[in-house]
Amino acid sequence: MIHTGKMGFCIWFGGAVLILSVYGCHSHGDGSNFPKYAASSQGAPWPAPQRMSQMSQLVNIDAGNFQFHAVQESCDILDAAFVRYRDLTFNSRPGSGKLYFKPRSDPRASDEPLSVLGVTVASPCQNRVFPSLTSDESYVLDISPTKAELVAKEVWGALRGLETFSQLVVQQNTGKFVVNITHIDDYPRFAHRGLLLDTSRHYVALPILLDNLEAMAQNKYNVFHWHIVDDQSFPFQSQSFPALSDAGAYDPVTHVYTPSDVQKVIEFARLRGIRVIPEFDSPGHAQSWGHGQPGLLTACYKQGKPDGSYGPINPVPATTNTFLSQLFSEVASVFTDHYVHLGGDEVSFNCWMSNPQITAFMASKNWTDYGKLEQYYMQNVLDIVNKLKKGYIIWQEVIDNGATVRQDTVVEVWKGGWQNEMGKVTKLGYKTLLASCWYLTYISYGSDWSKYYTCDPQNFTGTPEQKQQVIGGETSMWGEFVDGTNLLSLVWPHAAAVGERLWSAQSVNNVKAATPRLAQHRCRMVRRGFPAEPINGPGYCPKEFRG
Ligand SMILES: *[C@@H]1O[C@H](CO)[C@@H](O)[C@H](O)[C@H]1NC(C)=O
Ligand SMILES: *[C@@H]1O[C@H](CO)[C@@H](O)[C@H](O)[C@H]1NC(C)=O
Ligand SMILES: *[C@@H]1O[C@H](CO)[C@@H](O)[C@H](O)[C@H]1NC(C)=O
Repeated sequence: MIHTGKMGFCIWFGGAVLILSVYGCHSHGDGSNFPKYAASSQGAPWPAPQRMSQMSQLVNIDAGNFQFHAVQESCDILDAAFVRYRDLTFNSRPGSGKLYFKPRSDPRASDEPLSVLGVTVASPCQNRVFPSLTSDESYVLDISPTKAELVAKEVWGALRGLETFSQLVVQQNTGKFVVNITHIDDYPRFAHRGLLLDTSRHYVALPILLDNLEAMAQNKYNVFHWHIVDDQSFPFQSQSFPALSDAGAYDPVTHVYTPSDVQKVIEFARLRGIRVIPEFDSPGHAQSWGHGQPGLLTACYKQGKPDGSYGPINPVPATTNTFLSQLFSEVASVFTDHYVHLGGDEVSFNCWMSNPQITAFMASKNWTDYGKLEQYYMQNVLDIVNKLKKGYIIWQEVIDNGATVRQDTVVEVWKGGWQNEMGKVTKLGYKTLLASCWYLTYISYGSDWSKYYTCDPQNFTGTPEQKQQVIGGETSMWGEFVDGTNLLSLVWPHAAAVGERLWSAQSVNNVKAATPRLAQHRCRMVRRGFPAEPINGPGYCPKEFRG
């Protein structure tokens, strides 16, 4: 028997149950032999391609001898991807050397099996290139009984197509690897598909960051928004200001990202077509900066005396500007992406209001509104980064407070009431990212991915031109209650739901239709070694985690 909770309902289809209930569908062992779990599809890609046609004819694949072959010149990204995708396509866990399942009987292919995927990249595929906001990620994948071909304009499209190919191939119980005859013509709906991790509230060790990048690639994400420092700790090891992490990290030796760690992250990401955008959030959220840079933060006063606590960065002293110029010049040279995230959110004015130096400065400018001071500070930072020839991303408050920003600025909307805000920011002509809907930090009991899945970043009132200003969105995992022990399980597969929203066509938004594919995709991630948690209620994976 299937019982539903007060508000939920359970739908039977195809001999399995789809669980849409907030309270869950509890099955009591009454001896009935109904399947009691969500159905899983076979060989269905996630996120869904823009255009895909498949036939029921299966083509055998010679897994043992299978080759990925660069039809034209290859390059570092393609070479590394071929090695990776051999594993991801055929092995139970990458690097294990073991196929998903042991053949249960002698796999005798009835016809000549496919043994090569030809990969053509139209524009010369060069070494040491980095992805950007304008990377072309489109590809065409064609699998017929005689040939498998992947064609892309740029190497980034080849990466996305290889991932799709690896997801189409399934191993049958007999041990045979097969793929349906398939034609796919695919490209992303949005150019910026980001995931934010916070490494300040909790330090996250390098291997977890790298695992997460690999998981991102498997979900066609292309931006790692690295919220690297915040109030709680400053793990970024700066070469110009080593004191920042010496005094501001949880531990100056074990809880820092050295220059070499940062390079490893950037390189690992590059090989997967992922941009790394660091966030150095200021003037608020900067308590940890103060330990290694005395005089940077505003001293808060009580009854005419410093009370020992500190507020946002103090915009007044000339030393502040010198420091910021040097720090951002280092950041601009370390991080290769064109964009730097400059934060600018949640600035509290209380401490500024208590400080006599700031009061005098405000008076000299004739300002009474502290929003003006915030605007003055942000403008300085924007000018500094502008001089470094970098673009910037900022949280919505910077615009809300009326700062003048460059026209190519990207504004990230994160607060409630996002539909109005998206309307407002796009009307001002800025490129816009949506974050509000996708705070994975608030994961709740039950099948909660549907709320991430059904939020559409272009669902606000505005002209077609305004909708065009939306370049994508970001999933965020803030770090208050998250570290290396639970990060991957909480992020995945929830972030996969957002991955499909940002890659696939707007019309691909039916939760019921997506459920079996997401169930399969989660199991695929589990098979590939990720502790991606169950999100559809009872069920199983053919290859369990570490099974
Ligand atoms: C793939 O082939 C199998 C076996 O013939 C078939 O059952 C399935 O429906 C096919 N998939 C698609 C999407 O056509
Ligand atoms: C400040 O405001 C006063 C009164 O409105 C005005 O006379 C003065 O010129 C202003 N000073 C500056 C620097 O804007
Ligand atoms: C758009 O948003 C409204 C709420 O403002 C919601 O009712 C509607 O279902 C949404 N539509 C889509 C396609 O997401």
